[in-house]
Amino acid sequence: MTQPPAPGAFADRVVLVAGASSGVGAALAQAFAAADADVALFARSEAELARVAEACRQAGREALVVPGDVTRPDDCAALVERTVHSFGRLDTVVASAGLGMWARFDELSDTEVLRQLLDVNVLGVANVFLPALPHVRASRGMLVAISSVQGMVGVPGRSGYAASKHALQGLCDSLRLELRGTGVEVLTVMAHWVRGTNLRARALGPDGAPRGTAAAHRSRSAIDLDTLTRAVLAAVRHRKRRVFVPGYLRYLPLLAQVAPGLADRIVVRTMAREASTAPRG
Ligand SMILES: NC(=O)c1ccc[n+]([C@@H]2O[C@H](COP(=O)([O-])OP(=O)(O)OC[C@H]3O[C@@H](n4cnc5c(N)ncnc54)[C@H](OP(=O)(O)O)[C@@H]3O)[C@@H](O)[C@H]2O)c1
Repeated sequence: MTQPPAPGAFADRVVLVAGASSGVGAALAQAFAAADADVALFARSEAELARVAEACRQAGREALVVPGDVTRPDDCAALVERTVHSFGRLDTVVASAGLGMWARFDELSDTEVLRQLLDVNVLGVANVFLPALPHVRASRGMLVAISSVQGMVGVPGRSGYAASKHALQGLCDSLRLELRGTGVEVLTVMAHWVRGTNLRARALGPDGAPRGTAAAHRSRSAIDLDTLTRAVLAAVRHRKRRVFVPGYLRYLPLLAQVAPGLADRIVVRTMAREASTAPRG
């Protein structure tokens, strides 16, 4: 298992987390603060952000709360401006704001659900990365996108989500190549299902409304937030371009290339098992 970063590993660094009010983003903000970074926290729910900020301050670091929406470019520009104004620099930008989907494509009455997923999961990342870029160039820092292995393989019942994460992968890979030689690295995090987040409960159903707790099953194979945050902080420290969590997930996209029929069967069987037997929690 990846070790937690040594205390002081991110001393004097400033980390901005978009989607910091719950789940992965909240856990990452606290993990960076515990490793001595100052943090800027962004999401729509100000009350939840205040709770996460308090936890970061308990670690002895500064935490700035900026409420806003990743689908609004002006909110994202203000977020970056306030972060740099408060802390004087910006080293790492973590784009964790995200939206899930829980419906078959043929259940949709129109493409509105897909538009919302692309708006948050793709444009929402671009809206945060774009104004942050000059500052991250100046610090030779990192852009981090919290993605999913669904950005590399298709998954039944998740077409809009997988499409958005595939698009996100294209954005991050292209940006990484554009930034070669600037000292900026772009990391995409290919995560498995994660316990302890709101993604499933808030996932959009076929009518565009969140499916609610009925959809909040958790796979037995889901990873915990601690495992994910350790892997992400280690990948940032080592300036990786991609990290799979857990590591064995890296074989699924490879298998999809060399034995696509087998990869399809594994994915379909996994999703069928999810739908029928997954425990709640
Ligand atoms: N959970 C998993 O199994 C899993 C697996 C692989 C990858 N991921 C990825 O991890 C990331 C975080 O998801 P999570 O599991 O932590 O889910 P989560 O608990 O629902 O967190 C989502 C975060 O995104 C924020 N957000 C959503 N829409 C937003 C908007 N329009 N503007 C600003 N913030 C917005 C939410 O805050 P507000 O509602 O307060 O705005 C919340 O802070 C996502 O990109 C997801 O795709 C999750």
